[in-house]
Amino acid sequence: MPLEFAERIRRIPVYPVAAGYDLGAEVAMLASNECCFAPHPAVIEAASRTLAGAHRYPDPYYTPLRRALSERYGIPAERIAVGNGSCDILLAAGEALLEPGAEVVYAWPAFSVYPHLAASSGARAIEVPLDSEARHDLDAMADEITVATRLVLVCNPNNPTSTALGLDAIEAFLERVPSHVCVILDEAYCEISLSLGDTYASLDLLRRFGNLVLLRTFSKVYGLAALRAGYALCASEDFRVAVDQVRQPFYLNAAAQAGAVEALRHQDEVERRVAQTIAARMTLEEGVRELGLWLAESDANFVWLRLPDGVDEGDVVTGLRARGVLVRAGASLGQQGALRVTAGTERENERFVGALRDLV
Ligand SMILES: Cc1ncc(COP(=O)(O)O)c(C=O)c1O
Repeated sequence: MPLEFAERIRRIPVYPVAAGYDLGAEVAMLASNECCFAPHPAVIEAASRTLAGAHRYPDPYYTPLRRALSERYGIPAERIAVGNGSCDILLAAGEALLEPGAEVVYAWPAFSVYPHLAASSGARAIEVPLDSEARHDLDAMADEITVATRLVLVCNPNNPTSTALGLDAIEAFLERVPSHVCVILDEAYCEISLSLGDTYASLDLLRRFGNLVLLRTFSKVYGLAALRAGYALCASEDFRVAVDQVRQPFYLNAAAQAGAVEALRHQDEVERRVAQTIAARMTLEEGVRELGLWLAESDANFVWLRLPDGVDEGDVVTGLRARGVLVRAGASLGQQGALRVTAGTERENERFVGALRDLV
């Protein structure tokens, strides 16, 4: 007899993980929006030092990390949630806020984890199409809010389409959302976004809107994707208490905590990476534009391009892979006929553009 699983197991989509992690260093990994720079040496040292104490459980209050984030952003530590990657906080938010009969509103295509929240809780997902420029249509999203809405997710800049909205548009949207509806502003790429200004700009919104949560990660520009560390700056303590309540204790390991604390001390390195990443992305954009392809206006470390009519997306992805370049097919992220490509090193970007030229 096969095992009998909960009904929701049939509803939960399989997360479209990138392939190629077994292909070795020669492959250009442009499929997961990671940072192409290794962690700062001091971060590696700080994380490594924790291993000598690995026989003890990690700090269950995540005190040094929450204190460091509190000092950096001027938010009390009680209003800072941390997680095993920001995905952990997202999924916990789904568990804490959603249930059958409730609704969650988000744009689509957006981050591939969002559909999991409704599927695993039994809530209804309201997916609002992006506009013709691959941006969030915030008015259409606000129109979808009903008495059943518990959670709204806004991805800014948006993964997979790379577009961002200014904070004035976000603010006008927040004014339309009832105060009992939680809004998570997913800012995984905020350090790179020029339209956001800087990572402090959206903090003003936290002071004005008690239902807002800013979700951020150490996986991107800080270069700690494999350690898994994310955080949320919350307008109220309730959100942090609720997402802690639904998770196992010790969800953030000691190496990730120490690495993240150390990474926050090296903002000069972050700034250097941001400048290099934006320059790399611009070269990538130039190469793609020279091929005559449409690109969304990127405000992140990746681009979203449309393939010409009649060109098969699967063939292009396979052809790129055969040439040692891994990118993400639009179909796996919610839209056929597109590619999402992470800005890599200069050599990787050249390799991608050269290979794409062969294929389209
Ligand atoms: C928009 C967005 N949010 C959240 C995440 C999750 O990041 P992590 O769980 O690594 O912190 C990602 C990762 O790609 C993302 O693109």
